[in-house]
Order: sequence, then C-alpha cells, then structure tokens
Amino acid sequence: MALLLGIDIGTSGAKTLLIDTRGRVVASASAEYPCLAPRPAWSEQEPRHWVDAARKTVRAVMRRAAGGRVLAVGLSGQMHGAVFLDAAGDVLRPAILWNDQRTAAECDEITRLAGGRRRLLRMVANPALTGFTAPKILWVRRHEPRLWDRTVKVLLPKDYLRYRLTGEFATDASDASGTLLLDVRRRAWCRPLLSRLQIDPDLMPRCYESPEVTGVLSAAGARLLGLEPGIPVVAGGGDNAAGAVGNGVVRRGVVSASLGTSGVVFAHADAMETDPEGRVHTFCTAVPGKWHVMGVVLAAGGSLQWYRNVLCEAQAAEARRRRVDPYDLITADAAAAPVGSHGLYFLPYLTGERTPHADPNARGCWVGLSNMHRRGELARSVMEGITYAMRDSLEIIRGMGVPVKEIRATGGGARSAFWRQMQADVYGQAVCTINAAEGPAYGAALLAGVGAGVWADVPEASDAVVRVGAATRPDRRRAAAYNRRYPQFQALYRSLRDDFARMAVLELDAHGA
Ligand code: XUL
Repeated sequence: MALLLGIDIGTSGAKTLLIDTRGRVVASASAEYPCLAPRPAWSEQEPRHWVDAARKTVRAVMRRAAGGRVLAVGLSGQMHGAVFLDAAGDVLRPAILWNDQRTAAECDEITRLAGGRRRLLRMVANPALTGFTAPKILWVRRHEPRLWDRTVKVLLPKDYLRYRLTGEFATDASDASGTLLLDVRRRAWCRPLLSRLQIDPDLMPRCYESPEVTGVLSAAGARLLGLEPGIPVVAGGGDNAAGAVGNGVVRRGVVSASLGTSGVVFAHADAMETDPEGRVHTFCTAVPGKWHVMGVVLAAGGSLQWYRNVLCEAQAAEARRRRVDPYDLITADAAAAPVGSHGLYFLPYLTGERTPHADPNARGCWVGLSNMHRRGELARSVMEGITYAMRDSLEIIRGMGVPVKEIRATGGGARSAFWRQMQADVYGQAVCTINAAEGPAYGAALLAGVGAGVWADVPEASDAVVRVGAATRPDRRRAAAYNRRYPQFQALYRSLRDDFARMAVLELDAHGA
C-alpha cells in the first residue's frame, strides 16, 4: 500500500499521521515534550525533543503500516520559533518560541529601522509582534553576542527537523511569512528589510512553496525514523496553513474558525490583502501563489480550560463519577443561562492578546458581576467572551473585503453543538462542520501527497478528502441580542487598556522589589 506521512511539531507535542492515497488515516501517534519558561513571559524548547518525538511517533505509526511504502513526508509545525545553528549544524541554545514575550524593545527597533510601521507593513505585510522570529534574532544578537557570532543559520521549528532528516536548509512560504523577514507579496526573503536590520540573507534557509520537494531522507534521517533513504520530503507549512489544507480552506470565500487552546480565524485569499492597521496577519498560504488572512485569539479554549481547572472542581468530581467529559457539564450550565449572561461580560485576555489589540499587557476579567450571577452565567459569559473575541477577527477580515461565504467550525470547540450554535448566533452567519479532525499533521500528509504526484495540486487534494457537514444557522432573536451586546464587549477593552498598562508596570515593580 502507498502511504503518506505527516509530522506536526506542535507546542505541547508532536503528532504524526500515516494516511493512504485516498486520505484515510492508517495510524496516528503523538508524543509530548516540555515547554521551558526560564523567566516570566519567556518560552523555550529543546529542538532535540522535537526530533526525538518525531522519531518515536514515526516508528509508532510505521508499526501499523502493514508493510506499506511511504511515498513522501510532509512537515508542519508551530510557527515563528527560532532555532540558532552553528557551522557544524549544532543547536546553540534552546529555541525561542512563538508565545515568548521578551522582545518588545526589538519590535520597536525593527519598526524604527524599517522606517516606520507603514513602511514595515509595505515590506513584509505585517507589523512587528513579539512572537515573530525577526525580533528574536535581534534579541539574541544584542543579549548573547558570543553565541550570535557563531550563528550561521536560523531555522523555524519544523525546518530544524527537516535539516535533521534531509541535511537541507529549507522552509516554505507560509511559515517564512511569520518570520517578518519575507516579502509576502513576492514570496521571497525581503532583501531591503534584511539589509536595514543587518541580517545576512545567508542566515535564512531557501524558501519553497508548500507542496514542493525540498530534499530526500538522508541515510542518517532514514536511520532516525526507521525508513528507507531517498524518500522525498516536501516543504509543508506553518501549522495554520497546513491545517487549512486539511480543513479544505483553499478557496476564496471559505473561512475556518478554529477553537483550540488558541482561537484562529483563517480566511483564504487569492490576492494579497492587508489590514492597513496590521491587526490581522497576512501570510502566504500552502496553496502556491495564494495568501491567507488570519486573526489569533491567544486564550480561546485556553480560557475555558482555565475556568474548568480553577473554578469547576465540583463539576470535575461529578464528571468523574458519571464518567462524562467535564466540559459537557460546564456547557450544560452555560446553556441554562440566558443570552448575554444577565449582563456579565468576560474578556478572554488571560495571556495578553494578539488580534485585534496586539497587547501583551491585556488581562482577562469579568465585568458586570452581580449577586444574581450563578455558575451558569459565569460559564456562559466565558464562552460568549471567547466567541466575541473570534468575531473581532472575523469583522476585520470582512471589513477588508475578503469574502466570508462559508465558515467552517473546527478545533475542540466545534465538537459542542451548543458552542457551534453560539458561534453562528454571534457571527450572524451559519457555521458548518467538516469530517476532518486531525489538524495540521493531516494537511502536511496531503501536501506530501501533492509533492508525490498523488493529487495534481493542493485544492484537488483537499477536495478529495474534505466533506462538509451540516450547517448550524443563526437564530434571528439570539443573533440580534448578541449584536446589541457586541459593541459593549469591544468598548470594555478600550476602557481598560490604560489600566492594563498601569497594572503591568505595578507588577513589574513588585517583582523587581
Ligand atoms: C500563529 C501562531 C500559532 C503558532 C502555534 O501565528 O502564533 O498558531 O503557530 O501554534
């Protein structure tokens, strides 16, 4: 049997999928690895852990391959992370990840060196954000100069694994977009910005389109995975771009709203579209020559998870007793409360916010608590706050003129019929489900299939496997009720923004004291 392998280097772990050439999942395996936080707001990982997790998971899925032959390998991964390599190809320090917040000063520096925010947006389509790769490079250059002197390559997470598997330094345009160093329009490294930042272009890997073959498994790579040398490895994609291939978001008008730990609204775009204020990201997508526009809510499912962990001990115990998922009980609580949670609002900014505020100081809060509120209102307001935050991204995308004809609900949140209905009501538009639930590793495997010639192109691969399920339509009365409350949700951040900044200074002083 001919098989395709997709490996996703996620933030909490790696997931590997083996699929057949009709897109059916033959086997899947995952392995976790730790995130290091050597200081508050820092986030790092050891690249060797990714390689080890890939080794374990590939070997695990291959044990169930029943003698099948792997045609190609596709890679996807957490975006924006920086891996620093020396001339021998050795890792010089732990990788600095997408959710690391140490680079505020470097972001200001990049904006200044680029000649201002507008010029930066014109060059690389996005503003400088702490999570992106370029500010991490400047941070290492400033704070670890001896290590910087030895750096000859900077790679993204999945591309470090590629290097270990093939010996090639390569990336793909979707992942490269999140470095802030790619000319997203031309899909090539942005020489003018690299020169203004005094970054040698040779530090960056060669940039390919997602389904292109970037090399083949070397003898060492093959030994590591327990496969034959010579198997092609395609460029793959950043996790969201690869995920979009698996969700069938490969055509104009199709948008996904994914509720996982973070929430992502992802719209395919045939032409490059940017928000003049840079509130959503404009990146190349995994379909060659196309783009996507994306908003990221940092703590979406993460907020509900926090609520479950901190405030739902009773439901957790009951869930254990009844052998049900605690989220089912939380959702039942929420469903019993009215639309608008009796005037209670929740801002889901537990870890700062990316879209639309780009504010690392923003914090979560309930506003409007009264003595009539019960558990149900608390639960419902958390879900409503997350969904309003997703609508923020959707509104910006709609406002840019990017068509939103069909919204596909994906991620863990899409499994709840109640939350799907709330999404339809808050977005004021139907949401539908899809059959695929395997995430970026699945998209990476499909890209491998395109690279191996199983499908002619990326949309054909998506169409061959993705089936759209039933649509959940908005209820007119509830949608109107949410519409009335949404501007109030938006107003709360504006009212609190300066308080968040002052509170951050106070905390910093307190830690320093
Ligand atoms: C995208 C982003 C995250 C990471 C980790 O901009 O920061 O989605 O890719 O999953």
